[in-house]
Amino acid sequence: MKQRIKQSIENLKQLSAETLEDIEQLRIQYLGKKGVMNELFAQFKSVPNEEKKEMGSLLNELKTAVQTKIEALREAVENKSESKISVDDLTKPACLEQLGSRHPISLVRNEIISIFSKIGYTVEEGPEIEDDWHVFSALNFPPEHPARDMQDTFFIENREDGNHAVLRTHTSSVQVRTMEKQKPPIRIIAPGRVFRNEAISARAHCIFHQIEGLYIDKNVSFSDLKQSLLYFAKEMFGANTQIRLRPSYFPFTEPSAEMDVSCNLCGGKGCNVCKGTGWLEIMGCGMVDPNVLKASGIDPDVYSGFAFGMGVERIAMLKYGVNDLRMYFENDVRFLGQFRNSI
Ligand code: PHE
Repeated sequence: MKQRIKQSIENLKQLSAETLEDIEQLRIQYLGKKGVMNELFAQFKSVPNEEKKEMGSLLNELKTAVQTKIEALREAVENKSESKISVDDLTKPACLEQLGSRHPISLVRNEIISIFSKIGYTVEEGPEIEDDWHVFSALNFPPEHPARDMQDTFFIENREDGNHAVLRTHTSSVQVRTMEKQKPPIRIIAPGRVFRNEAISARAHCIFHQIEGLYIDKNVSFSDLKQSLLYFAKEMFGANTQIRLRPSYFPFTEPSAEMDVSCNLCGGKGCNVCKGTGWLEIMGCGMVDPNVLKASGIDPDVYSGFAFGMGVERIAMLKYGVNDLRMYFENDVRFLGQFRNSI
């Protein structure tokens, strides 16, 4: 019997198990009703008294060894199954990742770019930190123009020569940069972020996005401007959309106009969004002022052109029926997730 116990302790050391079932088998084999331990304890009863002490402690040693071994094997098997990637069924469908979505401003910007690229416009970009020349002076803003006032413009650095560094207040600065480096014909759109010192509300923000357009060539006329913008309005808001141009003023265009589109929500009958007028204002436009062409080295006696500029947030608000501009900047996933199907 002594021999058998010692042998069992030795055997235990060699045992291994692959699965929890293997371990359960082992447990039954040693600790079960008809298992090795019970059998040995039964034999123990007939051990002569003088050997009982030694045999008893050997038996206890074996019992502890069995329990420790089973625990160790169980831990090993469990750890293994946790770290091992289950490849038991390769045909199972993959877990779907939660997809992000494009920001509504990016969606609308991309749509506007693609509409104009169909009629030959290419995309130009310029710096957000600009100088007075590109944002104001080259665009025919008189020195005392209120837009230069601290109210509207974020000044970054005052420079002695007056060409202060500013955050651009409109993307019209990219017009100037393009005319400075490119000879006509020029046909570009310039999407980008602009900054104005405005109180943040549902209708205004200190950061927003604009898309500027510029077309310069020989014999470009106001009717080209009208037709190009009508094409854009129909592509953007639907084939039945109409436009109207109201006289306006910008220092860099002459004549200048404000363009409205017929309200796509009520079809022009009048509703809350168009405030009963049937029209929605969407952009400023006009024929490039000869002074602007001259400032960038283009001869106004040979070339003419038109320019337009629109707010991307404004177009996105009309398109998606969003009534608070701030939502575009808060990045609340409950808001952004609604544009998932618009990609
Ligand atoms: N830059 C003008 C604005 O920010 C928009 C505009 C662009 C108007 C081009 C006319 C021509 O309001």
